[in-house]
Amino acid sequence: MSDELPGIPARALPISARAPGKCIVFGEHAVVHGAPELVFAIDLTTQVFVSAGEATRLNADSEAPRRNAYFRSTLDLAWSGKPPLEVRAISRIPKSAGLGSSAAFVAGLAAALSSASGGIDRPALAQRSFEIERGAQGVGSPGDTSTAVAGGFVAVNGGPGEPLWSVRSPDHRWEIRRVTDPGWVWVVAYTGIPRSTADAVRAVGARLAAPGGPELLEEFRRVAKDGIDAVGRGDRSTVAELLRRNQELLREVGVSHPRLEALIEAARPAAEGTKLTGAGAGGSVVALPMPGKETELVRRLARAGGLPFVVRPVPTGASLVET
Ligand code: PMV
Repeated sequence: MSDELPGIPARALPISARAPGKCIVFGEHAVVHGAPELVFAIDLTTQVFVSAGEATRLNADSEAPRRNAYFRSTLDLAWSGKPPLEVRAISRIPKSAGLGSSAAFVAGLAAALSSASGGIDRPALAQRSFEIERGAQGVGSPGDTSTAVAGGFVAVNGGPGEPLWSVRSPDHRWEIRRVTDPGWVWVVAYTGIPRSTADAVRAVGARLAAPGGPELLEEFRRVAKDGIDAVGRGDRSTVAELLRRNQELLREVGVSHPRLEALIEAARPAAEGTKLTGAGAGGSVVALPMPGKETELVRRLARAGGLPFVVRPVPTGASLVET
């Protein structure tokens, strides 16, 4: 286990915390079935402000503990039996876009509540955030929540990097490792089509369990493993080729979408490689721009109807905001 990343210290309420969204470079979906994944934390965050309240509310909504599964699951796992809370959340991460808005909310709020309960080390916060997200979603891997907790580039089940922690579910165990940021600029573009992660995960699970599924999973595994190694040594052309191959696999398991394909096509003259990122079936694409063509790429994606933005990996994961 890592002693590299400091834990979340104990504080008294009111507490403010924040956590970053994420962008998956390789391995989404297959990671749910134990294959490797590469993810980085992005410079869009969710910030939460938590204070004692008369009744538990989220952004002044007292129905939220009943209606918002992520809020309810966080309260159940990190604040059970404790006094009411007034929570405000402000997010710059588009929702249901494949950019980790739910993981950032869960990791930020879990960090704040764990701080108010005596503090927590980072491996335990990663495990807790995963259990909370899984409690709300019913399915999934710890890739998003561990990245929101760790910051930077993170490999799940792969890579030669330093082990940060492992995360367990009743039927899987995922190893989380640090990958060195190659220092590249990435461009993400949102299709504007929200979708359900849980539905997409279940559909891909069914496809991978059908004839030919194990062979597909093996190919997902190879692409993500080689992709993690290529990012680690800063090999752009191999990364680009593997982005394209990963997209073919995602298309084959049924989570691409005509709007995603239109963005991938529009990006081609200015991107070395482009694929969907996150659960797919809508959501976003991630592209590795050709050096010097970042602005052209953004323009092309916008003209094709996407909402593009340049994303910079950020090294910092969930943390308290000192007020
Ligand atoms: O679209 P998002 O941000 O919910 O990402 C989901 C990534 C999956 O691999 C599809 C699911 C998971 O939990 O790993």
